[in-house]
Amino acid sequence: MDQNKIGSRLLLVLLLFYINCNGDSPILSPFSNGKHNIIIGAELTSANDCISCHKTIHKNWKSSQHAHAYTNVLFQHGLEREPRVWCLNCHAPLHTISQELVDLPHKIDIGELAKEGVNCAVCHVRNGKIYGKKENLNLIEHKVYKDSKLMSKELCTSCHNFNFPRTHAPLTTYNENAMQATGDEFTFSFMHIQGKSCQSCHLAKSHILGGASNRDFLKENLKFEIVSSIVNSKHFVKFKISFDKIGHNFPTGDLFRALTLETYDKSLNKLDDYVIHKKLRVIDAYTIDDTRLILKPFTKSLEREVILQSDLKAETCKIVYHYQNPIENQLKGKIPDKEYLFEIYNGKCDYLE
Ligand code: HEC
Ligand code: HEC
Ligand code: HEC
Ligand code: HEC
Ligand code: HEC
Repeated sequence: MDQNKIGSRLLLVLLLFYINCNGDSPILSPFSNGKHNIIIGAELTSANDCISCHKTIHKNWKSSQHAHAYTNVLFQHGLEREPRVWCLNCHAPLHTISQELVDLPHKIDIGELAKEGVNCAVCHVRNGKIYGKKENLNLIEHKVYKDSKLMSKELCTSCHNFNFPRTHAPLTTYNENAMQATGDEFTFSFMHIQGKSCQSCHLAKSHILGGASNRDFLKENLKFEIVSSIVNSKHFVKFKISFDKIGHNFPTGDLFRALTLETYDKSLNKLDDYVIHKKLRVIDAYTIDDTRLILKPFTKSLEREVILQSDLKAETCKIVYHYQNPIENQLKGKIPDKEYLFEIYNGKCDYLE
């Protein structure tokens, strides 16, 4: 047999092995990377089926972005701009609207279950069976079946790693340009190499979902220092921002995320600023600007120093997280500022933690 044939047989075996891996996991098998909704059967599909016994977990999930994935105002605004059935496949994955529709019918009610967003059943229930990390068939309340993929990154990357859609009909297909690449960014991180997954940073505390919309979490994890100085009558402000432990680039996820570093004079006129983001041209996903903090292979921390300069003294410094940076002008007035802006710091231009 020639090398090529051996090569392609090996590939086929690997491919079958890969398909089998997912096929063996009841939890992963209905996932499609957002190509269609998630079909899980008819029983135990609502978070209300779990609330009576798992109160703390339910409370923490309920206050998370997963529970608000469909109802939150920023998503609703996005859906108004681009009303695709595709969006629901991740933001309201238990919806039952036909994939052939492409565009969402005007004012359609997607149903209470779909409005629960990424609920307990999306991660734990298949055909009326509850899956956990360990098997427990003797539990009085309900049996727990084992699915080790519950701790895999694939549970998350099916929705947190995808490309721009090429077609929506008759089926969703993707092109080669990443829209969200959190999963790929994680691949060579220290945490992944060490055998850890997204879950260990994001769900470890009884389903409190860490993330940028969890403002306490962002503030806890984002460390910063600000130092001002004068050289030759020029004013300089040095910002240093860092993460001790992270599993991907910063910002990650939604392409509209950005962090800005800003300096102001005593009348609060802006002197200078610096934007940390990835900016794409919409028509062809060409990268116009990429100033993100990129996680290097085998590492778990990020750091960046930025120096802003001005002729006048900077009296006020700000560090602001922007959830929808490129379209803020569209949101202004319609939605309260605090929904799409998070002022992490607003104070003097000298700050040491
Ligand atoms: C009648 C009470 C009750 C209801 C309702 C209930 N559970 Fe449980 N569940 C328990 C108890 C008790 C345990 C075992 C102790 C524990 O881990 O909390 C358990 C364990 C689990 C475990 C495994 C925990 C482990 O240690 O691996 C999972 C996963 C789980 N439940 C998910 C759910 C989901 C999802 C729902 C809703 C569809 C649900 N449960 C509804 C009582 C209940
Ligand atoms: C995004 C996926 C996801 C969602 C949504 C989710 N869980 Fe979990 N759940 C997990 C994972 C992953 C684990 C294992 C976590 C670990 O051990 O680090 C887990 C663990 C559990 C456990 C075991 C005890 C514990 O805290 O580790 C219970 C019980 C449970 N989930 C119930 C629920 C209930 C009830 C809901 C809805 C209110 C829910 N889960 C929503 C992914 C999810
Ligand atoms: C069915 C799709 C789906 C699955 C599975 C899923 N997520 Fe999500 N996740 C979403 C969507 C959609 C949002 C955004 C909600 C919003 O803000 O509108 C989100 C939000 C988040 C956020 C919050 C981001 C922020 O802005 O604060 C984190 C963190 C997160 N997910 C982590 C995880 C992890 C870890 C897993 C795996 C255990 C996971 N997700 C599984 C769809 C999913
Ligand atoms: C070592 C800990 C760690 C690991 C592992 C990790 N993250 Fe994060 N993640 C963070 C921190 C810290 C933040 C807050 C900073 C930020 O927003 O990027 C964050 C933020 C996020 C956000 C919010 C981004 C935004 O701006 O809305 C999402 C979504 C997310 N992570 C998903 C994932 C997924 C999916 C994985 C696995 C593929 C993962 N994370 C692995 C620490 C981690
Ligand atoms: C393949 C899954 C997937 C699809 C399809 C998808 N999204 Fe998302 N979306 C996500 C995830 C995951 C996040 C959270 C990432 C983060 O926090 O940075 C998100 C975040 C968002 C946010 C930010 C919400 C917030 O709370 O800040 C908006 C707005 C949004 N998506 C709109 C849309 C719209 C509109 C569509 C359809 C045109 C869509 N999404 C399709 C997975 C998806």
